[in-house]
Amino acid sequence: MSQIYRQARYPVHDIFQEHSVEREVTDNPLPDNIARREAPRIPDMPEYEVIRHFTRLSQMNYGVDSGFYPLGSCTMKFNPKYAELLCRETEAVDIHPYQPEDTVQGTLMIMYELQQMLAEISGMDSVSLQPAAGAHGEMTGLLIVNEFFRKKGEERNEIILPDTAHGTNPASAGMLGYKTIEIPSRDGCVDMKALEEAAGENTAAFMLTNPNTLGIFEENALQVAEIIHDAGGLLYYDGANLNAIMGKTSPGRMDYDIMHFNLHKTLSTPHGGGGPGSGPVGVSKELSSYLPVPVVGRAKGRYYLDYSLENTIGRIKGFYGNWLVLLRAYAYILREGSDGLTAVSERAVLNSNYMRKRLENVLELPYGQLRKHEFVLSGSGLKKKGLRTLDIAKRLLDYGYHAPTIYFPLIVEEALMIEPTETERKETLDGFVDALLSILDEDPETVRTAPHNTAVKRVDDAQASRDPVLSYRMRLNAK
Ligand SMILES: Cc1ncc(COP(=O)(O)O)c(C=O)c1O
Repeated sequence: MSQIYRQARYPVHDIFQEHSVEREVTDNPLPDNIARREAPRIPDMPEYEVIRHFTRLSQMNYGVDSGFYPLGSCTMKFNPKYAELLCRETEAVDIHPYQPEDTVQGTLMIMYELQQMLAEISGMDSVSLQPAAGAHGEMTGLLIVNEFFRKKGEERNEIILPDTAHGTNPASAGMLGYKTIEIPSRDGCVDMKALEEAAGENTAAFMLTNPNTLGIFEENALQVAEIIHDAGGLLYYDGANLNAIMGKTSPGRMDYDIMHFNLHKTLSTPHGGGGPGSGPVGVSKELSSYLPVPVVGRAKGRYYLDYSLENTIGRIKGFYGNWLVLLRAYAYILREGSDGLTAVSERAVLNSNYMRKRLENVLELPYGQLRKHEFVLSGSGLKKKGLRTLDIAKRLLDYGYHAPTIYFPLIVEEALMIEPTETERKETLDGFVDALLSILDEDPETVRTAPHNTAVKRVDDAQASRDPVLSYRMRLNAK
C-alpha cells in the first residue's frame, strides 16, 4: 500500500493583524502637498519572521516541487531550474521596454528567434509574442478572424466548437459577440455529420484542440479543415495540448489558419497561480499582416520593433509580451533541440498510456482507445459506494499526490482527468495508481471525509471562484 503522507500544519498567523499595519506618519520632512498622509499598510516585522512566515506557508502547500501533480489539461510539469536562473541574470531583468532599440539588441534577437522557432514548431508562417495567456491568445486570434472578414466585407457571426472544448474557447468567442455553435462528439471526436450541418455562410471560425481534452487525437482534422474552408470560414487551433504532438505533426500540417501556444504549459514556464503566462499566436501567410504590433523584425543585421503590418488588429498588451516567460521558452527550446522536443511529446504520451492501461479496468474509461498526453476516467461507478470523484480527489491528497483535474471535460460524467507529463518516472506513476487502488478498497467514510492529513480540509471551491480573495488588500476591501 502507498505510504500515507502528512502535510505540515502550523497555526495560521495573520501577520497583518499581529504586526500592526496602522502606523502614523511622523516627522515627515516633506511639504504637506506632496507628503504621504497615511503610512503604507504593511506589517512591521523583522526579516527572520517574514522568512518563517512564508516558509511555513509553503510547507502547508502542495506544488510540483513537492510531488506528482497530474492535473489534466493544465500540464503541471516540472520545469528545469536553469531557465529560472537565466531569468535572474542582470541582462534579463535590468532592462526597460522604453530603452532605445540599439541598447537591447540581444533581447530583440531572442524574441525574433523565438518567433521563428515557434513558427517552425507549429508550422505557421508568423508569430506574435504579445498575448499573456492561452485565453488571451484565443481572443487575439478571434480578433484577427473578425478583422479578416470585416476587410473582406463578409458578415460572419458564428464560431463552431466541439463539446470537448475548454471553457475559455466559448468564453473568448462570446466576449467578442460571436454566437457559439456546439458540435456533439461521436466516439470522443468531432461528429463530422453535425459539423457539416453547422458549417455555412455564417461560420467565421471553427476552434479545435487536438489532441482534444479527452486526450484523443482528432484523426479527421484535415477533413474538418476542408469542411470549414469550403464554407469560407477559418480554422483556429487551441495549442494548449501541443506537448502531445511536438515534432510529430503541427497545426500548420493540419491546415489551420490561426493558433495559440501555452508557453506556460509546453515550454518551460511553471503553470499555475494565475500567471504570468504567455500565449503567442501563430498565423498562416495569408493572415500575417493581421498580427498585433509590434512584432520583432530584422533588417541589415539589426533587430527592430516592426509597427508596419498593413492589416494589424493593433496592440493587445502593454509593451511586447511577458518577456521572462519568453526567455524561458527560448532557453528550453535551444536546450532540448528538435529531437528533445519530439522526445518530450513521446514520453508524455507513453506515460499517459501506461497509466491509462493500468487504470482502465479500475474506473470506467469512456471511449476506450489509445490516448495522447492525457486521459479521462469516469467515477460514475463510485455512486454505489456513496462516493463521488471529488472524494477520490481529496483522498489522493492524503497519499501525497495532487488530485487530477475533476469534472472536466463536461461530457464525461464524474470526470477524472489525468495528465502525468513527460517528466515523471515509472515508479511515481505506479505509486499513484497503487494509491488509487488502495483508496477504492478503503472504508467509504474515510474517503468521503478526506483529506485528513493536509493543512487545510475541504474548502468551498465554488465560493473561491465566485469571490476570489487573492491578496491581503483584497481581504481588507472585502471586509
Ligand atoms: C485546452 C485549453 N485551452 C485553453 C486554455 C487556456 O489557457 P490559459 O489558462 O493560459 O488562459 C487551457 C488552460 O488550461 C486549456 O487546457
